[in-house]
Amino acid sequence: MEIGTIGAGDFAQAFAKRALKTGHKVKLSNNRGPESLREIVNQLGPGAMAVTKEEAAACEMVLLAVPWDNVPETLASLPKWKNQILIDGTNPFHGKAGTFRPAAVGNLSTSQLVAALAPGARVVKALNNLPVPHLKADPVVNRARRVAFISADDEDAKKRVQTLLEGFGYSVIDLGNLRDGGLIQQAGGPLAGRNLLEQGERHK
Ligand SMILES: NC(=O)c1ccc[n+]([C@@H]2O[C@H](COP(=O)([O-])OP(=O)(O)OC[C@H]3O[C@@H](n4cnc5c(N)ncnc54)[C@H](OP(=O)(O)O)[C@@H]3O)[C@@H](O)[C@H]2O)c1
Repeated sequence: MEIGTIGAGDFAQAFAKRALKTGHKVKLSNNRGPESLREIVNQLGPGAMAVTKEEAAACEMVLLAVPWDNVPETLASLPKWKNQILIDGTNPFHGKAGTFRPAAVGNLSTSQLVAALAPGARVVKALNNLPVPHLKADPVVNRARRVAFISADDEDAKKRVQTLLEGFGYSVIDLGNLRDGGLIQQAGGPLAGRNLLEQGERHK
């Protein structure tokens, strides 16, 4: 599959490494344009491409990986969504790492806000419990799989992201819809940043 990234910073690059390792192609984009990403895609290796954000957003699956303060302008700058899956990896913080201040998001989950700003996209909240060092690390630790959470209102989109993340090697737990699951896994929620491992197969 071709996966696009809107934003090509630490988070998107860690995600891209996982996706490339699993055999996907990744089209990375940022604000300054493809020329500025040349060295990064060279380092990522075969399968990584530097593209415009319009090209990245045209992929069937797209990772949103820009700072929270830039989310509205970034989404407003993109062409209309045509049912693509948008994985929301953003956290509701103002400022850069180290100087984070929580952003007020009212009564909605942050991914519901993202979905409202991206009509036509099928938004899936994922990966918020895995900080960049854990994303970079092996998904399997002492034969136990790291846990990744997903939530979405669109069941098909959620299943597709589940398959992607299971392909990366994670044990994926479906937390339900964008509101309830989003609130549980987003920054400030009880499962945000939790480094959990699942041993063996699930007993059903
Ligand atoms: N596991 C997780 O869920 C996880 C982990 C870490 C971070 N995050 C979240 O992911 C997001 C990105 O974090 P990061 O650490 O990767 O940030 P970062 O290293 O600062 O990178 C931000 C990226 O966003 C791009 N960008 C900013 N405005 C844009 C726009 N209008 N259009 C297109 N691209 C734009 C920047 O492009 P330029 O360089 O051209 O400005 C840059 O590539 C944040 O919301 C953060 O909270 C999630």
